[in-house]
Amino acid sequence: MSLDDRIPNNVDLHTDRRLQKALEQWQPKFLDWWMEMGPEGFQTKDVYLRTAISVDRDGWATFDHVKMPDYRWGIFLTPEERKRPVGFGDNPGVESFEEVPGEFRNPLRRLIVTQGDTEPASVEQQRLLGQTCPSLYDLRNLFQVNVEEGRHLWAMVYLLHRFFGRDGREEADEMLARRSGDPDKPRILETFNQPIKNWLSFFCFTMFTDRDGKYQLGALAESGFAPMRRTCQFMLTEEAHHLFVGETGITRVLRRAAQLAKEHGGDVKAGGGIPIEMVQRYINYWFSYSLDLFGSEISSNSSDYFAMGLKGRFDEEKKYADHSAREGFLEVPVVEDGRITIRQTPLRNAMNECLRDDYIKDCEAACKRWNRALEEEGAEQRVTLPNRRFHRHIGEYAQHKFNSAGELLTGPDAAARVAAELPNAEDEAWVGSLMKAVTKPGAFANWIAPPKVGINSMPADFEYVKL
Ligand SMILES: [Fe+2]
Ligand SMILES: [Fe+2]
Repeated sequence: MSLDDRIPNNVDLHTDRRLQKALEQWQPKFLDWWMEMGPEGFQTKDVYLRTAISVDRDGWATFDHVKMPDYRWGIFLTPEERKRPVGFGDNPGVESFEEVPGEFRNPLRRLIVTQGDTEPASVEQQRLLGQTCPSLYDLRNLFQVNVEEGRHLWAMVYLLHRFFGRDGREEADEMLARRSGDPDKPRILETFNQPIKNWLSFFCFTMFTDRDGKYQLGALAESGFAPMRRTCQFMLTEEAHHLFVGETGITRVLRRAAQLAKEHGGDVKAGGGIPIEMVQRYINYWFSYSLDLFGSEISSNSSDYFAMGLKGRFDEEKKYADHSAREGFLEVPVVEDGRITIRQTPLRNAMNECLRDDYIKDCEAACKRWNRALEEEGAEQRVTLPNRRFHRHIGEYAQHKFNSAGELLTGPDAAARVAAELPNAEDEAWVGSLMKAVTKPGAFANWIAPPKVGINSMPADFEYVKL
């Protein structure tokens, strides 16, 4: 098999012997990791997967049944038709960097490693879910997400190997050595050490946590470091499917809950579904954990990344007129003397918060769509997003307790009041009890409604995974 068949790419891999060697040495280690930490119990099964074999219209999404270990993890950078200078920061308008400027080496490496580490982490978090899939359709979607997170790891490892020499090779190996939830060698970000024990959590994770990925990648897709920008642009095309899986997964759970409530006099559990208020607690948990991923509200790191032209705002080029962000403030609520007050924060120090604002708006739009589905099913209950201060572990709010309305809680029962809005042991036991594999083509578990259409317009009873 030729190199380009083994590692599909549009980065002229065959012309760079050193890089080729580095990647060929890393590839078997990646496969070992995949066999050990990838989806358990399905490695020899044929799965109907989308594979990117080139970046053009026909090549980026080819569908076929493949065994996951044979998936062709490739390296793709979105081509740019026009010359694009550095778009923001201290030196907007200068030529984009094609190599890593010495003074930016450490911050760039940190950005790449932090992003890269999340990709294998999520595969690890999801590795047992296949055994309790609600349908073959969902099983296939899980595996699609998994192999693409694997490819995203390849994307970041390419940058490390290509631009960071020996340090990069060491970092690439570390990516395969850390383990989600392992106390001795955990993944870098805490959200990626939280277990995903059931499919409701999986849908919340792909809805909220993968969506953080969309915003981080979106900010890096503005970067003045051209290879990073183009890599992230291509990753975003794949990410859209992950978000689809999450959002529609929650819609289907809510729809089914409303239907079962009607059939069983309001008692969703009697019908074997997940009550809407229980779904709400899972939303609270994963939304709040995902907000942590944007970092501190007030951050000098985010200011540095912006100043260097490495990480911009979401849609920086299109959305903003002033790309220096030297002037202006963002009003950030902080806790002072036991109450919430507004701190005027220089814009550059509030870049994390700008990104989080855009993210929250996006999530609110999805929340509206969930409520529309509930309305269609004749339910009166609605779901909401908790306030951004609720249940946070990073940033201004981590040292305090807030309820889901964002009100500061004091007193001895504060922690209990936060816990009351999160999934409890009973919720976990109930949702866990519903997790039984349904693998007949076209059949769905009782707690979730079927999707409106199949993947790649396949019929309802299509055998997405051949068991
Ligand atoms: Fe990813
Ligand atoms: Fe993703």
